[in-house]
Amino acid sequence: MKSFEALDARGKAVLLRVDLNTSLVNGEPQDSPRFTQAGEVIRLLARRGAKVVVIAHQGRPGGDDFSSLEKHAVLLSRHAKKKVKFVPDLFSPTTLEKIRGLGEGKILLLENSRFYSEESAEGIDYSKTLLVKSLSSVADCFVNDAFSASHRSQATVTGFPQLLPSYAGPHLAEEVDFLSRLRDSAEKPVVYCLGGAKVAECFNVAEYAFSNGAAQSLLASGVFGELLFLASGKDLGLKREWLEKKGFLKHSERARRLWDGHKDDIALPIDFAFADDEGFRVETRDASTAPKPVFDIGGETLNLFKRYLKDAKTVFVKGPAGRYEEPPFELGTKTLFKLVSSSKAFTVVGGGDSGAALEKLGFKEKDFGHVCTAGGAMLDFLTGKELPGLVALENNAIEPKQKPDSEVAGAEAAGSAVAGVEASGAETV
Ligand code: 3PG
Repeated sequence: MKSFEALDARGKAVLLRVDLNTSLVNGEPQDSPRFTQAGEVIRLLARRGAKVVVIAHQGRPGGDDFSSLEKHAVLLSRHAKKKVKFVPDLFSPTTLEKIRGLGEGKILLLENSRFYSEESAEGIDYSKTLLVKSLSSVADCFVNDAFSASHRSQATVTGFPQLLPSYAGPHLAEEVDFLSRLRDSAEKPVVYCLGGAKVAECFNVAEYAFSNGAAQSLLASGVFGELLFLASGKDLGLKREWLEKKGFLKHSERARRLWDGHKDDIALPIDFAFADDEGFRVETRDASTAPKPVFDIGGETLNLFKRYLKDAKTVFVKGPAGRYEEPPFELGTKTLFKLVSSSKAFTVVGGGDSGAALEKLGFKEKDFGHVCTAGGAMLDFLTGKELPGLVALENNAIEPKQKPDSEVAGAEAAGSAVAGVEASGAETV
């Protein structure tokens, strides 16, 4: 991949793909580390004299969080410490004109790329879409700093590298470095702490890690840990009923196979916590007779996990140990994170749920070796899948043009090449 450091950005129109996808509360985009990272890379480019054109998405068509990026621009301006001007479409003639006229160090944020059907159309050559052709005609190069969207084969991720010199953004490169180290060359013993309720993801990661020697031990908690606990032949009483009602028992067979194949390398919870009628935390070794369903691991389990973590050279954490959002059940996740953050091992925390848990429980990014901002992309990477966005950058063989005096004339000519089709640039899904 072409490195960001090699990009001579002065005077160049740079298409910058970032990931600003976030949760919306009453229509307001919520701040997240993704905005911090986008702000950083924008500042770097603006300082180098680039004309920065930011491209991002929010939500999926039809979803409640499928919205305009207008409010994202306000949040992004705060992080970039510079005005980020919102443009209410993606590649209309007016927008292309604005990009042509953009000054050095100035920043535009274009509208949600997923408003345009070409972005996610399947089975097409993105380099031939109006979206990619039009924007490429007014830009000098492309930077992908959206690792967390790079598992998607979509126009704004994989299209531009077919037409423009394309660079790996600094945060994308950092994610790839940390996750490659974790997956391929981590110092052993490697301990995976997998929890939470996204159990299919946990199974994918655990199965890959064991079959490829990427992890030596697995500390299981959350719903994932409870399924393995049941697979080991023990009972969880009311919690088993709860798991059944919520549909989690459909994973029982997978849990049994994982347990049977790797029981010597898996540490299961040995005690649990429930809340009594007054809402106070009660710990028990026998969840099968607990008067309420259990929603956290107990202190003895944490002591067991501590022994594994003491010797670990690498630790990966995905998902909370229990229902940390509720005070009686935050102890397991909080203590586990504390143990990991104070470990001398190389530590990586990933997955959307873990990020939210870190924030809620008062941990900072700097408490860990690396906190991954990606969800699906991280999982695909850690389970050995190719990420289309990374492949597109790796295959990019287009070298940057030297832009002498004829710069303006050249840009005009390129712009008019698509002028006939620009009018449809405002088409939305
Ligand atoms: C994410 O939030 O994980 C990325 O923005 C990708 O979003 P998607 O799963 O809707 O493609």
